[in-house]
Amino acid sequence: MKDEKLLEDIKKAAGEAGRIMKEAVRPKIMEKSGHANFVTQYDEKIQKYLMDRLSGVLPEASFLGEEDGQDVFTEKMKHGYVFVIDPIDGTSNFISAYHPSVVSIGLLKEGRPYLGVVYNPYDDMMFEAAEGEGAYMNGERIMSSEAPLSDSLAAFGTAPYYTGLRDETFDRAKALMDKCVDIRRSGTAAWDMCCVAMGRCALYFEMRIQIWDYAAAGLIAAEAGCRVTDINGEPLSYTGASSALCRSRGVCEMPW
Ligand code: IPD
Ligand code: CA
Repeated sequence: MKDEKLLEDIKKAAGEAGRIMKEAVRPKIMEKSGHANFVTQYDEKIQKYLMDRLSGVLPEASFLGEEDGQDVFTEKMKHGYVFVIDPIDGTSNFISAYHPSVVSIGLLKEGRPYLGVVYNPYDDMMFEAAEGEGAYMNGERIMSSEAPLSDSLAAFGTAPYYTGLRDETFDRAKALMDKCVDIRRSGTAAWDMCCVAMGRCALYFEMRIQIWDYAAAGLIAAEAGCRVTDINGEPLSYTGASSALCRSRGVCEMPW
């Protein structure tokens, strides 16, 4: 496997970050812009920890992360290596002890997804993928489900601060209800995509997510045989925010 050592080092960093998340007590909550858009001192602490540790692992890489003003994708990032980090995906879950929340670390190479690691510390589930080499969970190969949507669960995401997307989001979710077994909303986009990757559900969609939400999980899902696109079926940009639609192997048609 290419870059096995690099992937191992990223997984160790994700494992340690997950330990910090899991052992957190009474997070201090700060508001970002918009309705119910939160950050805690643990989001910042974990991102700082990951940046320090991963810069030792791959010194030439630059960083893009949700917190601390590290969130701007620059033209320069279309070249070389870029770590794309969400220290806690599922911050509102984390604040309310409503699991899961996950650590998400993607590595882009020349602007394309190269390695991806997502760790759920509450269930000790470590997802990993290297481009072209399949997806794994705790060392076992995973593939998305071949079941049709009509026999499967589907998931969707919404962020409370994108108020303008609410109606379309819930209209699409409502239309899906007739086509699947039932709908789930986990509160973490990276986790939702990993659920499609491992066959727990057949589809996930969201009208706007950020690059740190999908950089790692998008690769994991694609390597598990999913079709990972925007809501119109176009490839994800890997340069910034996007809508997202992740379909398992059994969901060939567009759902709307
Ligand atoms: C959020 C979660 C949520 C999704 C939002 C994201 P955060 O990330 O992934 O499920 O619906 O779009 O912003 O803020 O918890 O890191
Ligand atoms: Ca986050």
